[in-house]
Amino acid sequence: MNRFIAFIFVSILALAAVACAQTKPNAASDANAGKETAAVDKAPSEASGSKILVAYFSATGVTEKAAQQIADATGGTLYKIQPETPYSDADLDWHNEQSRSSVEMADKASRPAIAGKPEKLEEYSVVYLGFPIWWYTAPTIINTFIEANSLNGKTVIPFATSGGSTIDKACADLKTAYPEINWKEGRLLNRVTEQELKDWTASQH
Ligand SMILES: Cc1cc2nc3c(=O)[nH]c(=O)nc-3n(C[C@H](O)[C@H](O)[C@H](O)COP(=O)(O)O)c2cc1C
Repeated sequence: MNRFIAFIFVSILALAAVACAQTKPNAASDANAGKETAAVDKAPSEASGSKILVAYFSATGVTEKAAQQIADATGGTLYKIQPETPYSDADLDWHNEQSRSSVEMADKASRPAIAGKPEKLEEYSVVYLGFPIWWYTAPTIINTFIEANSLNGKTVIPFATSGGSTIDKACADLKTAYPEINWKEGRLLNRVTEQELKDWTASQH
């Protein structure tokens, strides 16, 4: 009986060894890859010689999901741009011209305060910068972030989600306001598939 148990045990070990040997070194295409640690996902980032930051603002979670997908695909570090005072539902009411977002977006000089800063920003050469489209452009909190954190000389790739508007005006506005940044063409990430996102990020750096 003991020999039988030992046989079963050895068989299980042998099967496990074969299974491990067949595991791909980069599991990025596996369904669970996104949930794996940054150690696996870091590979593409390091291979291309650039350290990637995925900085984003998201008021209701849609852009946040896209940011997470980019971080999974690139091995980049996620950084959430947090308003010092979070936006309430009433703040986000674009039908109300007195709401906080309407007032901020009507004043190009508004710079809503943010809490915190990304650590060791100088180490990153590529920054994905994400936001929801507000009034056809980037929320002014993105201006606050850019002005509080030097992105000069870095490659910055805007991405956004929207209710249907394009990202074009946001990209044009940002390029005009901050010409010293090496802007890449931005991309609207409404309803992109995981594969489309991987292909896009792979072509960026
Ligand atoms: C104040 C405000 C203004 C908006 N303006 C636009 C707009 O001009 N065009 C558009 O397509 N969607 C607009 N939207 C919709 C958001 O862009 C869209 O819901 C986005 O996916 C939200 O992203 P988030 O969940 O990351 O905040 C607006 C939303 C808010 C709250």
